Amino acid sequence: MPLFPDGECTRCPALAANRQRIVRGYGDPQARLMIVGEAPGYLEARPDGRAFTGDRSGRRVQKLLIALGMSEETDPAVETPRLRGVWLTNVVRCNPPGNRNPTPAEVANCALFLCAEMEAIKPKVVATLGNFAARWAFGELLGQEPPAGVRALHGQTWRAGDVTLLCLVHPARASNAQIAVAEQVLRSLLAG
Ligand code: URA
Repeated sequence: MPLFPDGECTRCPALAANRQRIVRGYGDPQARLMIVGEAPGYLEARPDGRAFTGDRSGRRVQKLLIALGMSEETDPAVETPRLRGVWLTNVVRCNPPGNRNPTPAEVANCALFLCAEMEAIKPKVVATLGNFAARWAFGELLGQEPPAGVRALHGQTWRAGDVTLLCLVHPARASNAQIAVAEQVLRSLLAG
C-alpha cells in the first residue's frame, strides 16, 4: 500500500508516457533528515529500484549516509539500503525521458507529493541536492527564490520555523571537497 496517494498519476503526460513506475521516497519514517534530490534515474525506476541507488550519484549519497551512521549497510552499492534517521526523496517521482531535467511544470505538478511527505515525516533538517530541489525548498519553506545558484549556496543553512534548510550541490556534479563539506555540515546539524 503506497504511503502517499499518487496512484497512477497522469499530471505530467510526458513523464507518465515514459515511466516504468513512480519512484516514491523511502527510508526511516521517523527521520530527522530529509534529503531531496532531482528525479530518479532510469535504473532506479526498475520494478525493485530505489531512489539514489544504481548510479554514481546514488553511491555517493549512500556512502555519505554510511559515514554519518545513517545506514545499516557497509556497501554504498546495495540496491535496497536500510536507512536510519533519514528519508530520501526527489522533487519529481518519474524518470524523465533520456534523463533530461524536469521542467518547472513537472516540478510544480509533483510538489503535492513532496509536501505530503514533509507533512508525514516532519523532518528537522531538509537537505536539497541541486538547483531544482533548492528552488522547490526555498519556495515551499521560505516563500522566496534562492538568492544564488547552488554552487554559491553549497553548505549554507536557513531557518524556516523549526526546520533547517541546507543547500548542497547535486552529487552528480559535486567535487570530493564539496561532499566533505556536506558531511561536516550534516554532522553538526544532526548533533545539535
Ligand atoms: N537519483 C535520484 O533518485 N535522484 C537524483 O537526483 C539523482 C539520482
